[in-house]
Amino acid sequence: MILSITGFMGCGKSSVGRKLSQLLCCPFMDLDEMIEDEAGKSIPEIFAEVGESGFRKMEHRILSSVLSVKTEEGTTSKILEIISLGGGTVMTRECAEIVRERTLCVYLRASIQTLAEHLEGETQGRPMLSGNVQERITELMAQRSETYEKTAHIIIDTDGMTIEGIASKIVTLI
Ligand code: S3P
Repeated sequence: MILSITGFMGCGKSSVGRKLSQLLCCPFMDLDEMIEDEAGKSIPEIFAEVGESGFRKMEHRILSSVLSVKTEEGTTSKILEIISLGGGTVMTRECAEIVRERTLCVYLRASIQTLAEHLEGETQGRPMLSGNVQERITELMAQRSETYEKTAHIIIDTDGMTIEGIASKIVTLI
């Protein structure tokens, strides 16, 4: 089984994924890191070279290849694996479909206020957050929140929770 973690930039996807993999002693994958490893470039470099649309194509290709391999393995293996997605992954319809069909997807829902606090000083490696951060979060969340909610099987309201608290809550829910 694959547990995927979705949600806006700064909601804690990677930290919660790592914590969960410690708690459950299972492998952890970070989609952004896989993209950077395969490209041999950072996310801002990829955006600068091929734009958001080129990045989304790579993201879809790598996600679908990981999920097909893992889903095939899953027919014989009972091991749980965790993957943290990028904040925009499920905005590509094909990505949302395979995430919904082939993983148990958890959405870490956070308020704009919480996201803005987490992203304070953390916008450097995030090309989608250029300009006024609070305005950008508001604008992107208006476009994205419904898709996060529709794609996920489990929604956790994370405002005021710690990474450990969120990870423990997921353990009780799966
Ligand atoms: C993006 C989120 C980033 C990364 C890329 C695009 C987005 O991941 O995939 O910069 O569109 O929200 P994080 O959510 O891990 O920052």
